[in-house]
Amino acid sequence: MLTNLLKTTASISEALNTINDSDNKICLVTEPDGRLARVVTDGDIRRALIDGATTEDAISVLPPTDPVTCGVKAGEADILSLMISNDINIVVVVNEANHPVSLVSRSMLEPNVLLSPPHMGERERIYVGNAFEENWVAPAGPHLAKFEHELEKVTGLEAALAVSSGTAALHLAMRVLNVKAGDRVYVSDLTFAASAQPILYENAVPVLIDSEPGTWNMSPEALARKLEKDKTLGVLPAAIIVVHIYGQCANMERICELADFYGIPIVEDAAESLGATYRNSSSGAHGTLAAFSFNGNKIITTGGGGALVSNNRELIELARYLSTQGRDAALHYQHEKVAYNYRMSNILAGIGRGQLALLGERVEARRHIFDRYRNGLKDIPGIRFQENSPNSQGNRWLTVVDLDPDEFGLHPYQVIKKLGQHGIECRPAWKPMHLQPLFRRYEIEFHSEHEYIAGEHFLRSLCLPSGSSMTEDAQDRIIGQLRKTLKRLA
Ligand SMILES: Cc1ncc(COP(=O)(O)O)c(C=O)c1O
Repeated sequence: MLTNLLKTTASISEALNTINDSDNKICLVTEPDGRLARVVTDGDIRRALIDGATTEDAISVLPPTDPVTCGVKAGEADILSLMISNDINIVVVVNEANHPVSLVSRSMLEPNVLLSPPHMGERERIYVGNAFEENWVAPAGPHLAKFEHELEKVTGLEAALAVSSGTAALHLAMRVLNVKAGDRVYVSDLTFAASAQPILYENAVPVLIDSEPGTWNMSPEALARKLEKDKTLGVLPAAIIVVHIYGQCANMERICELADFYGIPIVEDAAESLGATYRNSSSGAHGTLAAFSFNGNKIITTGGGGALVSNNRELIELARYLSTQGRDAALHYQHEKVAYNYRMSNILAGIGRGQLALLGERVEARRHIFDRYRNGLKDIPGIRFQENSPNSQGNRWLTVVDLDPDEFGLHPYQVIKKLGQHGIECRPAWKPMHLQPLFRRYEIEFHSEHEYIAGEHFLRSLCLPSGSSMTEDAQDRIIGQLRKTLKRLA
């Protein structure tokens, strides 16, 4: 039953109240005999008030508009094309006498497109079912051992440890590298807080390194400058956490050269970059240790989970010990170190095995999505895409666009809001650590004296839906809506 009906004699103030109370934020105005006269939106009222109307005036003072309607027998495709051609989100359904009977909103016809939802295959259920059948509903088990082995094969790394999250993997990396209270640890400024939180877990001191233009990953220039200064001061870091942001590899050649020169271990935060390659080897294979995430939004998922990987088996064995409460090799329960319950469960490892077998396909799908965005938006001046570092191929976990403020004169939030109204979920870029209340008291080394790349990126960029299960139709809808929105807001 419609609750947002008003008569033509109602006042603007009554219309405002009706709009406020309605789910669809419109009110339907009917003639005394019940026929639909018009639709009123808050935009109609705002424009009339600007032109001198008052809230006590009758709605009849509003400039007339023709309501977009359809008959009760209209099909979904026809209603959707009415919405698209009129650029509206609601159509009023009327009966033969032109009396309004219901409303159809766009969200009822077009499914929401999420940023990066999980994409399950066939095998995950089989592996999980199998764990139930064999009663391996336990924190360890055959799937866990096999998942780790398969991860070693896929990444070409010597050793893998599956844990409860990417953050846990990064924390274990701090522990096995013996990062102590007061030690300095460099970390990419442009990242999700999980890259830097484990530094604080150990009461160590984060030092933030800005991004370079183009790849938006850790700036080798800023890193070189900071290392040189800290060497002079005698305060070199205990580790460098390099993030491969949005799945694109950092410039590891230059970063590794610097780290080697100063003898500092690198931890790759490859949470977003599983499946990306750098110099033909897996992302995560270039530092001392690397962390992957299998969170629900990642390129493959276990629902929640992560892994620590390395070519140094000893470090992984130490992490394994710390991930299972640091239990010493004794029949009785004996512990001598502070440790954690960070192990992945056998059930989740079953999901991980199914997902890992699909990694190649998922990477291809995300790269294809990126190519379609780039082609669909390439003629719009002022849009830029994240670049690959030399000799690398990112997994394009998320396609992120940088909107030149001189071309568009808008904040990405305006676009996020507009696309959200059409059921399209976009997100802002990561808010850099130096702008976070938790991290702003720590040192930051900017790319150059006049360039603050991570901060600019945050103000200009927007993450587009990039899930590997997204259909081409859904992506065309996003591209179309984005083009329209940018044109209108420019
Ligand atoms: C760059 C980065 N680092 C670390 C993490 C932490 O991973 P998790 O959520 O599995 O703890 C994430 C994702 O959530 C991430 O995007």
